[in-house]
Amino acid sequence: MKLLPQTLPETLPRLQLHALLRRMPKAELHVHIEGSLEPELIFALAQRNGVALAYPDVAALRAAYAFSDLQSFLDIYYAGAGVLLHEADFHDMAWAYLQRAAADGVLRAEIFFDPQTHTARGVPIDTVITGLARACRRAQAELGVSAVLILCFLRHLSEEEALATLEQALPWREHFIGVGLDSSERGRPPGKFARVFARCRALGFHLVAHAGEEGPPAYIHDALDILRVERIDHGVRCLEDPGLVQRLAAARVPLTVCPFSNVKLRVFDTLAQHNLPALLDAGLCATVNSDDPAYFGGYIADNFVQTFDALPQLGPSQAYALARNSLEASFATAAEKAAWVARLDSCFAELN
Ligand code: ADE
Ligand code: ZN
Repeated sequence: MKLLPQTLPETLPRLQLHALLRRMPKAELHVHIEGSLEPELIFALAQRNGVALAYPDVAALRAAYAFSDLQSFLDIYYAGAGVLLHEADFHDMAWAYLQRAAADGVLRAEIFFDPQTHTARGVPIDTVITGLARACRRAQAELGVSAVLILCFLRHLSEEEALATLEQALPWREHFIGVGLDSSERGRPPGKFARVFARCRALGFHLVAHAGEEGPPAYIHDALDILRVERIDHGVRCLEDPGLVQRLAAARVPLTVCPFSNVKLRVFDTLAQHNLPALLDAGLCATVNSDDPAYFGGYIADNFVQTFDALPQLGPSQAYALARNSLEASFATAAEKAAWVARLDSCFAELN
């Protein structure tokens, strides 16, 4: 851990920077596996499982991916997940994602899944978890990618339903390391899930929650104070509250920022207007992630490349900081993190 970002060149030729952003070792900490379901795989699984789709072909489905906000996306995202029925479907979806992640320099993936989206359709929870877990084991064996699962509760459903989902999942608890909170945020404060998060904390799970994506900074405070989460997913609206920024920076609470998602769901109008540089300047532990890559225009490396292209104040030092933040913000062991940071340092040492 000797390399310091200050010793890095301030700029690099564009193509060299792109190559660096793609190959640098990184962790992806905010990806919904159902959001990695590409239209081609949706059609293939629909055919395999005899499921009827509302769109005639891949092009028509892709053309429907024009969103005005989070809810307009979620409606299409939950419908797309309707083709997932069998263990092999969950495996195939996660395996496709993990191969792409490996190609993007991802050494560690902490993958969200939404069991309630599937159990509500009659798919048993063990089908979901065992299929995803098999892909994670395969990623370690065949790709050298460390992949783990985080079970997310849907915040548009009740806390009772979240508690029931947790009970259903507990026989498979060795297959997931943490829990999260996702789905529509507006008008659904984190406090609604206080009891289920307290129970998960007592059970020893890692805790994360989406907050401050569309919701106000107060939801970030609540996620920390009431849910006691270790990371905030998105969190970009924290800059509206200087006291909150100080708090997040002082405690080094990681923010899993998703630039493409924020533009597609109209949190920011363009990548050039994204507040990622301001988050870093404020001393926050920001990371870059893909959220729902099949829906938002690209995987993690594309998020890095296009965001850096749009924001010229981002260069090699910020690339190093973002990659290092992601490795350190992961829930891996200290030894794993140290080994990954050493690989990151060698990647950047080649620049000098
Ligand atoms: N589920 C999938 N993507 C999401 C997002 N960006 N915010 C909340 N819930 C989600
Ligand atoms: Zn998300």
